[in-house]
Amino acid sequence: MTNTIESKAHPGRTARTDNWWANPLMVAVGFGVFIAYATFRTFENNYFEVDQYLSPFYSPKLAFDWWHFSPAILILWIPAGFRATCYYYRKAYYRAYFMTPPGCAVMGTSGTGYSGETKFPFILQNMHRYFFYCAALVLLVLWYDAIISFRAPDGRFTVSLLSLFMCLNCYLLSGYTFGCHAWRHLCGGAVSCFSKTEQQKAQFRIWHFVTKLNEHHQGWAWASLFSVGLTDLYIRSVAAKIIPPGVLF
Ligand code: FES
Repeated sequence: MTNTIESKAHPGRTARTDNWWANPLMVAVGFGVFIAYATFRTFENNYFEVDQYLSPFYSPKLAFDWWHFSPAILILWIPAGFRATCYYYRKAYYRAYFMTPPGCAVMGTSGTGYSGETKFPFILQNMHRYFFYCAALVLLVLWYDAIISFRAPDGRFTVSLLSLFMCLNCYLLSGYTFGCHAWRHLCGGAVSCFSKTEQQKAQFRIWHFVTKLNEHHQGWAWASLFSVGLTDLYIRSVAAKIIPPGVLF
């Protein structure tokens, strides 16, 4: 077992001989790039809508007379809170940024005052379930955005690479959102029997499907993080007239 006092003095010390630091380093860089880009886009307050395409960073678009800042601020706290409190992301950024500890069998920075998630602010991680409810609603709106993007401003049905990309983004976000640990618990966590009634059998099928998604939660988390950033970048580039939306027909 790690000695906490020695651990504080020697974070990173380990008997491991593999490249244990590569994973937290990649996580730190990946998150850092995404957070920097998302922050820039949130405050840019421009190039987020063009023709029938709306950026996922600004959707649902909340426009109020009394709000004079970027509308993204009003909505991004939901996906940000959802991801920040996600069980997978917690593990990833506790390792990458806080080093508590940075890896299995590697000394971390946590000393005698370490309280895990039992005290403020980390006790707020328990709000994850409520972020899930909000994020599921936002996802519904993103699917709506993706579907109506097949309708050109003049009413014609049209297919573009950008619309397909928006659908792919929603698919990946759905895989991430509905593989959530909290959702899996809601689907079947409090059930002691899955096989007596038809309702229990149906519940089992739902829980089983969610479990399949949950087994690859980390992969869905990263794929959807990239896709949401790239979808926004695509729409920004089209709105800024750097590239076309790639209309196929
Ligand atoms: S545990 Fe990752 S989204 Fe809920």
